[in-house]
Amino acid sequence: MSIITKGVSMFIIAVLILVLLVMIVLGFMLGFSHPLPWVLISMLVIVPIIHDKIVSKRFVKWNDSYSVGIKSIDCDHKKLLGMINQLQTASQYETHEGMLEDILNELVGYTKYHFTREEEMMRECNYPGYDVHKKQHEAMIEQVTKFIDEYRVHKTRTINDVVQYLKSWLVNHINGCDQEYSPYLKGKVN
Ligand code: FEO
Repeated sequence: MSIITKGVSMFIIAVLILVLLVMIVLGFMLGFSHPLPWVLISMLVIVPIIHDKIVSKRFVKWNDSYSVGIKSIDCDHKKLLGMINQLQTASQYETHEGMLEDILNELVGYTKYHFTREEEMMRECNYPGYDVHKKQHEAMIEQVTKFIDEYRVHKTRTINDVVQYLKSWLVNHINGCDQEYSPYLKGKVN
């Protein structure tokens, strides 16, 4: 979500809450036994709940079906998803640019560390899909570096573009390619 869209969305919610509050006050003029103000109060309670639900859907959640059956790799994947959520939260709340950069650098750094660890395990177990998998890791690092460069240097991308790319790539990769090596590595590495 761009800063403008976020601003518009917050403004609409603020206006909606204000309108509801005014209508509730006016509604009570009809009498405390009139159902209208009570219906409006229910709506006032429901609006932030719905808003929170919509916002939480934008975050990635660990699902046990993502497990590759190797504890250290599952831990890495959980950590990476958590870092993406952290980056998304920071971008949503218009955090200081320097802090966004720090989180982004940490995320890319941990992704590289994770890829190296995973590749070592694949080599150790003579996984036949090693070359293809490694190429995917390299392509991802190349792409994410390009995206960050476009965000950082050329300003032709927003931090949200980077977050969306990372989120989509990692979830698909963890749930796809990483699952394929599981039968070859499970029980042989920790
Ligand atoms: Fe878990 Fe292939 O990255």
